[in-house]
Amino acid sequence: MSDLLWQKEGVRVDARIMRFLAGDDVLLDREFLLHDITASKAHVAGLGRIGVLGADEVASITRELDALAEDFRHGDFILDDTHEDGHSAIEARLVERLGDVGRKVHTGRSRNDQVLVATRLWLKEQLAALGDLCVAIAEVCLQRAGAESLPLPGYTHLQRAVVSSTTMWFAGFAEGFLDNAVRARATRDWLDANPLGTAAGYGVNLPLDRAFTTEELGFARMQVSPIYAQLSRGKFELGALDALASTLLDLRRMAWDLSLFTTAEFGFVRLPDEYTTGSSIMPNKRNPDVIEMLRASYAPVAAARVEIEQLLSLPSGYQRDLQLSKGSLWHGFTHGLRALDLMPDLLARLQWNEAAMRAAIEPSMYATDVAIEQAAAGVPFRTAYRAAAEAGSDTGSGRTPESSLAARVSPGGDAAPGLEILQQRLNGLKDMHRESN
Ligand code: ARG
Repeated sequence: MSDLLWQKEGVRVDARIMRFLAGDDVLLDREFLLHDITASKAHVAGLGRIGVLGADEVASITRELDALAEDFRHGDFILDDTHEDGHSAIEARLVERLGDVGRKVHTGRSRNDQVLVATRLWLKEQLAALGDLCVAIAEVCLQRAGAESLPLPGYTHLQRAVVSSTTMWFAGFAEGFLDNAVRARATRDWLDANPLGTAAGYGVNLPLDRAFTTEELGFARMQVSPIYAQLSRGKFELGALDALASTLLDLRRMAWDLSLFTTAEFGFVRLPDEYTTGSSIMPNKRNPDVIEMLRASYAPVAAARVEIEQLLSLPSGYQRDLQLSKGSLWHGFTHGLRALDLMPDLLARLQWNEAAMRAAIEPSMYATDVAIEQAAAGVPFRTAYRAAAEAGSDTGSGRTPESSLAARVSPGGDAAPGLEILQQRLNGLKDMHRESN
């Protein structure tokens, strides 16, 4: 391992203990290294503005930081366990290239605010990606909701209940993913605050230009209290995972529907071939593995939430326990976003089996319509309800799914509100996205 930033004269470092402390942290730091470098550049520029570094020093450190980022992107610099962590690797590289000038980079900062700022920058990108994916999924759902409307049984308790339609199904998920997009954006705004300059958690005796680094790094505001900057670690990660988890809850229910709809028993949906796999032993199988993995994607996100929450039983101030939040966070977001990324294409190419869906709509599913129509004409609802129940499968004779749907106040029904309202929300989100880019 390269020299430790904090090593004391004459104290032996035990490799086994170091491995325990570092765990896979240094490998995880690969995910955050570019953000750490970006924040390091802002820090150094800020030190230049208050005269702690000369203009030449700022220029040479910045040049070497850029070179390190380039080398890292091209695989010419590999972050591995020859370093304690990514923060140490940055400083080691600057010292190797610039000697004493490199030894100045850490003036007025701590790895404690370094890890916070890198994580917040990283999460802002992840949440932007989450919001974009939610918008893309909502858009495909809305497009399909508007393009055709086929009858589909509506279930409660997994029992046939009333007539629904593919339009209603798609519109339902469209609205869900619009909500998720709004939540991703709100969460991004919530954690859009700069912790850089809070150092180890108590500030430093330098007039750091925190407004400058805030602006330079594109944060909306600064975290003013150094103590809160540390208290918020784990908490802002949980907030981000909440936004992801609520999205994946919708995805899980959608995947469950598709998992049922693709069985021979339902037979409502055919998946595109690429989204199915075969069996190693049963030549006849066409398995919906992708749907199952989409459904499973909620689990690592929920697990990440639990793990971070468990870590947060801590007094104030930085504690090394917090290091473990990084892996969970990365794992949760990586799984979650990969799953969501498949959805626009999959949804665009789902094939409905109209004959099977029509066949599954039995006459008794009009009973609610019949009772409500009579109630609207003045019969007490409970009386009309009993009459419809007694008529059993005769209730629906002469009715069609189309006539049942026409009177609904729902996207997919003819009465307002319709798909336009969802389309307007979608357009609004896309405009906001364009403005913020
Ligand atoms: N890997 C550490 C973490 O994620 C970086 C901060 C280390 N700070 C310290 N005082 N040991 O928390």
